[in-house]
Amino acid sequence: MRARSHELIWALLLLLVIGGLYLLASLRQGLEISPEGLSLRLPEPGEPFGHSLGIIGLALMLFTEIGYSLRKRSASARWGRTRYWLQAHILSGVVGGFLVLLHTGGNFRGLAGLTALLTVMVVASGFVGRYLYTGIPRGAGEFEPADPRTAARNARLRRWLSVWHLFHVPLAAAMFTAALLHVIGALYFVLPLR
Ligand code: HEM
Ligand code: HEM
Repeated sequence: MRARSHELIWALLLLLVIGGLYLLASLRQGLEISPEGLSLRLPEPGEPFGHSLGIIGLALMLFTEIGYSLRKRSASARWGRTRYWLQAHILSGVVGGFLVLLHTGGNFRGLAGLTALLTVMVVASGFVGRYLYTGIPRGAGEFEPADPRTAARNARLRRWLSVWHLFHVPLAAAMFTAALLHVIGALYFVLPLR
């Protein structure tokens, strides 16, 4: 029997909580009442609140990248089962990506905007990979099912998963490169001027 994965439910719950807190913070800081009506200013990415979202989001995405890859290559089971690390990968990837999007405050210009686009592409491609990955029964490589149609389906999914790796992994590398340049730019050119 296939074990159930609940990481997407947890991710959704966390997104709702984080989204709610973000909305409250935006209402406290940025709600303006004028004769023209109500307007809401989202937290700026360079202000302490918006800035912290970027830092925490990027830290979570670094964990997403490094944690699962290290566990996958480690033979030691003391680190916990690979399946749980993949669940943590998915959870922290979704939450980290969401935090980084909140950090942008809805601005998508230049290199920073490209970094945000790459973040969305990495997370979105992750969902495709998860669909392929969970479609393959674990151990299918060693124990092929007797039914040839099921065996062919598993082989097809494995092939697609390998092709998918060629998108997800380089996209992640491009995203971190763009993020590094953005952070260097922010630390050296933007923050010192404030
Ligand atoms: C993948 C992670 C990140 C993405 C996708 C991202 C994206 C963005 C975007 C789209 C903006 C708005 C740019 C604009 O207004 O023209 C921005 C601004 C900014 N980000 Fe990030 N960011 C990330 C991580 C970080 C981190 C870790 C820091 C910490 C140093 C940071 C510091 C800033 C600052 C200071 C600004 C304001 C720049 C300004 O006002 O000109 N960002 N970021
Ligand atoms: C910040 C976001 C993310 C980054 C940087 C990232 C990066 C990576 C990397 C580097 C790998 C290859 C691991 C290895 O083989 O060593 C990988 C695999 C994978 N990722 Fe992501 N990922 C992110 C988000 C996601 C999300 C949100 C999902 C699902 C919704 C996801 C699903 C997967 C799956 C299914 C695999 C393949 C597991 C395998 O074949 O062993 N990823 N990811």
